[in-house]
Amino acid sequence: MFRILVLHGPNLNLLGTREKSIYGVQTLNEVNMAIGQLARREGVHVEARQSNHEGELVTWIQETHGQFQALVINPAAYTHTSIAIRDAIVAVGIPAVEVHLSNIHRREPFRKRSLIAPVALGQISGFAATSYLLGVQAAIDYLRMKSPDEKKEIKHLDRGAMRS
Ligand code: DQA
Repeated sequence: MFRILVLHGPNLNLLGTREKSIYGVQTLNEVNMAIGQLARREGVHVEARQSNHEGELVTWIQETHGQFQALVINPAAYTHTSIAIRDAIVAVGIPAVEVHLSNIHRREPFRKRSLIAPVALGQISGFAATSYLLGVQAAIDYLRMKSPDEKKEIKHLDRGAMRS
């Protein structure tokens, strides 16, 4: 089964209360639940983590080696500043999809530049929580294209429940 790590960067723990007109009303927990539903439907394992600390995000990216096959990351403000996150993605060679809730190209000039985009498979920006779902789907499709023989999780029927 494919294993995908979703990383949320700084201030994304405040989703649902933070600048709702820009980032939407869904909480991080609700976003993660929607990602979980998609993962179950697609038969992949997705783990989601959030950190306000650049070094912690770097460590988690380093630790994907041998644990996860793809990364979906909203680096938040670190998108525009973090050579360390970019270098970590390159160092472990993990296929990464960059996602943003807002359309960073329609906002302040300093948000238009992403240090991550040049080392990502692609960038999805501007669809609120749906950006994450599109990003996870893109990662799944990429992995399936690369390894078409990987098995989906087989859901075993609960025979007891069927009998009753
Ligand atoms: C963001 C855009 C960034 O510019 C900003 O710093 C964020 C969130 C987004 O998802 O739209 O914190 O990554």
